[in-house]
Amino acid sequence: MKRLTLVLGGAAVAGLAAVIAVAQQSGDTQEESLVFLGELMSPKEISAGRKLYAENCASCHGVKLEGQADWKRRLDSGKMPAPPHDETGHTWHHSDQDLFTITKSGVSAVVAGYDSDMPAFDGVLSDAEIRTVLAYIKSTWPDRQREYQEKITKNERAKP
Ligand code: HEC
Repeated sequence: MKRLTLVLGGAAVAGLAAVIAVAQQSGDTQEESLVFLGELMSPKEISAGRKLYAENCASCHGVKLEGQADWKRRLDSGKMPAPPHDETGHTWHHSDQDLFTITKSGVSAVVAGYDSDMPAFDGVLSDAEIRTVLAYIKSTWPDRQREYQEKITKNERAKP
């Protein structure tokens, strides 16, 4: 009987692993964890980030992270529309630190004097909340974008 339980237990674990693998392939981030700014973000934090994204970012960056229509063309105001956060955009060209700074303090905190419609979330979202939102965004990227962005983040952290 004990043996049977063990075998069944093993099967359950294998089943769970398969479910996780499928969830990752289908872009469902529920079971995933990843590193943001050197910290391991749990599946729970990533799903909290998904909710915060919907509430705070989706109105401009799109419910599916698709960005604003014609996002590469400057607006009449001279400013840029909100780019996608999925792999078709350029969010993954920035290090974890830059993404955090842009979200907390606005684009001008990274590019001095730059005028932009991206609001600063300092005082709106806590640092921990900003980390979860960005971890959620990262969790939607395919491997190539993740690997590229990981290298950029590593190089940035290696700087004095
Ligand atoms: C009111 C509209 C608006 C909201 C809401 C908004 N953004 Fe943005 N965001 C922008 C715009 C516009 C830009 C492009 C800035 C530019 O290039 O001038 C941008 C750019 C960015 C960038 C730089 C992306 C890149 O590819 O260079 C990041 C990161 C970012 N936003 C994160 C967020 C996050 C995270 C949230 C939610 C917490 C959010 N934004 C909410 C309008 C918005």
